[in-house]
Amino acid sequence: MNKIRIGVLVSGGGSNLQAIIDACEAGRIPGKVVFVGSDNSDAYGLERAKRHKIPAFVVNYRKIARCYDQEKEGTIPDDFNLHEILEKQRLFPQSGDPTKLARFLGIRASAERALIDKMNTHPFDLLVLAGFMRTLSPYFIDRINMSRLGHRIMNIHPALLPAFPGTDGYGDTFRYGCKVGGCTVHFVDYGEDSGPIIGQKAFEIDPGDTLETIKEKGLHLEWELYEDSVRLFAEGRLKIIRKVFDLKGGRKIERTIVEIES
Ligand code: GRF
Repeated sequence: MNKIRIGVLVSGGGSNLQAIIDACEAGRIPGKVVFVGSDNSDAYGLERAKRHKIPAFVVNYRKIARCYDQEKEGTIPDDFNLHEILEKQRLFPQSGDPTKLARFLGIRASAERALIDKMNTHPFDLLVLAGFMRTLSPYFIDRINMSRLGHRIMNIHPALLPAFPGTDGYGDTFRYGCKVGGCTVHFVDYGEDSGPIIGQKAFEIDPGDTLETIKEKGLHLEWELYEDSVRLFAEGRLKIIRKVFDLKGGRKIERTIVEIES
């Protein structure tokens, strides 16, 4: 079986990155990590890349924001279209400050352009987000998921989606008093942690559990789940389909879901 080329983006410790590197090196995933990118030059994940001789790079979002504010030429990519992004993300400038929103989206697209340029020097088949703490806009997503290639950005989320999207999945699970927690791997779409689900793993929350023990239980399952999900992608077994479900009263609901081929 041909090996797939995997690019990984991290912002922090990179234990999920490590799990994927280890699984590739041990032959459990028919793949190879071809780059590690980060928005944080202190991310320990970059050190992990170095140890495994994997090319690594950093895109400094703050520096890009400063350039934008100083109106340095060439900060905003030529192919950036604010209206298109607003429409795709269903953002309505009327409901907030339109100048602030345009600034935010302009800076984000500039940083994403820089990411894409660096990523493109290492051709890849799959992009894995492993604790990458930036949301990706349609500008980025459309330039990775070109029609010929389809969905090829995966994310891991520390909760059983669609419950608790956002930045603190384990914290939200704990504070809600849930009796079960878990993690989810999904393809990335324009929404927040809303893309088609590839896999999930769950654990029980016992009365004595704390946020720390919940995180620990979850992280161990994340490593297994990410390995399994990337392997399924590498084996060409993830099929994205559009399904229509009939509801009571003649209503219909349409969803994009992932089918796993045997
Ligand atoms: C994980 O809990 C992941 O679900 C979340 O960020 C954390 C990253 O951990 N998105 P690591 O950097 O892979 O150790």
